[in-house]
Amino acid sequence: MSIHSSRSNVDVVIGMQDGDEGKGRFVDELAAGYDWVGRYNGGANAGHTISWQGKTLKLHQLPSGVQHEKTKLFIGAHCVINPEKLMGEIREVESHDLKVSNRLRISPYASVIQPSHIILDKITMRDIGTTKNGIGPAYAATRLRKEGHRDLDIRAAHLEEDFEWAMSAARANLIHERERWNDEIREEMRKGNMTADEVSVEKLMNDFIRYSKEIARFVEADPEMLIREWRKGKRILLEGAQAFGLDVTSGPTPNVTSSNTGVHAAFASTYLPLESSGRRIGVAKAIPSRVGHGPFPTEFGGSQSEEYCENKRHTEAWEREQYGDRIEAMLASDDPFEMGIALRILGGEYGATTNRPRRLGALDLVRLRHAVSANDLNEVFLTKFDMLSDFARTATGQVPVTNSYLRNGRKIQYAPTTSAGLYAAEPELHYLDGPTTNLSTIRSKDQLPSEVHRLIGDIEQRINAKISKIGVGPSREQMVNLKD
Ligand code: IMP
Repeated sequence: MSIHSSRSNVDVVIGMQDGDEGKGRFVDELAAGYDWVGRYNGGANAGHTISWQGKTLKLHQLPSGVQHEKTKLFIGAHCVINPEKLMGEIREVESHDLKVSNRLRISPYASVIQPSHIILDKITMRDIGTTKNGIGPAYAATRLRKEGHRDLDIRAAHLEEDFEWAMSAARANLIHERERWNDEIREEMRKGNMTADEVSVEKLMNDFIRYSKEIARFVEADPEMLIREWRKGKRILLEGAQAFGLDVTSGPTPNVTSSNTGVHAAFASTYLPLESSGRRIGVAKAIPSRVGHGPFPTEFGGSQSEEYCENKRHTEAWEREQYGDRIEAMLASDDPFEMGIALRILGGEYGATTNRPRRLGALDLVRLRHAVSANDLNEVFLTKFDMLSDFARTATGQVPVTNSYLRNGRKIQYAPTTSAGLYAAEPELHYLDGPTTNLSTIRSKDQLPSEVHRLIGDIEQRINAKISKIGVGPSREQMVNLKD
């Protein structure tokens, strides 16, 4: 008899597009039913807001599920950890009477983001528009391992087993990068983009030592702890931090994050057996969005919209002031750029922290189909489905979707894999009948109009997956279960 249990008690939730799919809401709700909730990639680059006793808490590195006090929290092997930020989050959450310290375990294999990584990110990676959390350099360190005599990678286990060595490695790396980029650092300081504290070796190392010591107690020395928990029958939910479109291997480099973000990464980062895999849920937004630079073939208004959305002046308040009295006319315009602005205002599609306008585009069924097959998803949740009703008031009156691309004039059924290829690809738009009424008060599938059932069936057929939930509004109850 196998020593393994055959229980499929490990479920994974990923974002299927380029982020901001609204996955957090589902994860928070699902989390209550699990013994463990784990993060398997990324670091403080992810952002996730939860509501707790009427207060809003912002999480970056702590797994969702933090508000369910019986749920234990795991940070996986392929995560990169910023000790100061993680401790800040723990303190913040605990100040709201929510205990974390006794529930959090960090994989011994997770890597530590060092002060030098954050400087490198700020100085050398500006063109990607990263979150400046040192993510790329920290992942690079795990792969490079050594540069001359310097040890580049510090693992969580080192904080527990070899603290002095880890700190002296971090100091050597910091002094090295500080000197190597001295001219650029001075220029940034002169421009007011960096402060003296941000580059002071003593200040940075004092803080790093202090917070690294604090997080050492969360490091799980035994690499098989989570596997044993699964064998005991514990239920585990693994949550992707960044969306599949930002995957470092399959996304359009360099406009991606530095980790693998899909379902396979969840198992690679936890070493849980493949037979433990149960639900593999992908979350997609009915009108997809992208923040910042990078290819987005179905974008309404194409490069004009990309450039416009990068302008920091174009905040929600500015757009409302500028266009507020002609939203319906813009929605009905023949110009997709104008239609996109109207959809953004109607859907409140602005970055949660930056307030930057999100670029919006047509639902790309080619990329969704790929996300389904590459991650072997067995469920799809479609958020912001209610926004599709706005298309009834556009020039075509229908919902635009893409089911194929044109590449050099030839029809292809896949999305090109490079940034240049995606920019050059031309999506072929199809128009499907969509909802014509307001869906926000609907709670059961029997109340959905027949055109919605037809549209969902059509999308399911094209992406080869069942859609099991649709979101019809921002609050938790505004959800329709399509399963039964
Ligand atoms: P990094 O992950 O900070 O290196 O940033 C690389 C790219 O990924 C940038 O375009 C970021 O805006 C994007 N990115 C990183 N994390 C997230 C996320 O959680 N949501 C959406 N975009 C993200």
